Amino acid sequence: MQNSKQAFFATVAEKSDGASLRGNYSDISEDYVVQQNWDRYTSDEHALWRRLYQRQAELLPGRACDEFIESLNALNAADGIPRFDTTSEALFKATGWRIVAVPGLIPELVFFTHLANRRFPVTVWLRNPDEFDYIVEPDVFHDYFGHVPLLFNPVFADHIQEFGKGGLKAMQLGGLDQLARLYWYTIEFGLVQGKHGLRAYGAGILSSGGELRYCLEPSSSHHIALNVERCMRTLYKIDSYQETYFVIRNFKQLFGDTAPDFTPLYERLKQQQPLPANTLLTGETELVTP
Ligand code: PHE
Ligand code: CO
Repeated sequence: MQNSKQAFFATVAEKSDGASLRGNYSDISEDYVVQQNWDRYTSDEHALWRRLYQRQAELLPGRACDEFIESLNALNAADGIPRFDTTSEALFKATGWRIVAVPGLIPELVFFTHLANRRFPVTVWLRNPDEFDYIVEPDVFHDYFGHVPLLFNPVFADHIQEFGKGGLKAMQLGGLDQLARLYWYTIEFGLVQGKHGLRAYGAGILSSGGELRYCLEPSSSHHIALNVERCMRTLYKIDSYQETYFVIRNFKQLFGDTAPDFTPLYERLKQQQPLPANTLLTGETELVTP
């Protein structure tokens, strides 16, 4: 994906550079919601899911936050690609969210509108076996395994809805690049300070075998406390592990820090140069990895 800035909610239009989006977008409806067609997954696909799931599950203890592990276990999704309908019902009872099936990446406006209405879009297709370790676009494993468990957490669930509303607002205010960075470094690649050390809560980490190990190793990457404005100034790379991880204390803090009106923030940030992904500013402290 050449246009890396908003890879997570890249628009269909953005792909008019000749590269076609993976997934079937023919006769797509306005909200991009499709049928999961669970019966059409092959036994090879279910087997690949089981392998992906097992590899990740083994890495979770000591690396993923407790809330994620607990919710994931309750989902009983180890045996094959899950039926979205079943999950959606359980999720609705827990936090009032639903999951909806989509063909893959969807336009920003559609993405934010779903989130603002407590609907989480999950891609229907599964990666190919040769993408076991790394995939550029989100597939069903990333979307479901990485994102769905924390939607069972009431505070995090509320946060994602607020993010969706914030996205619609950022589109009006010209703050999308800034908001995209916040999304990247929190919802996708965020770390939280757990009782026993740093833990991952970001979906991009949790669904990646390599990065789930890398992000907590003493490494050349930085681990610093989340500051929303600093985070929104920081560029990110989509084709390598992160050079900086932003750490929160808990989900309440994340909710509280992102609650204020971002309008003045976007205005300030437009006057400033963005920072390279590997920046460490004077006065910033490295948090200790386990
Ligand atoms: N508070 C943000 C705004 O005023 C909205 C938002 C909430 C953005 C949560 C991201 C996460 O735009
Ligand atoms: Co994601």
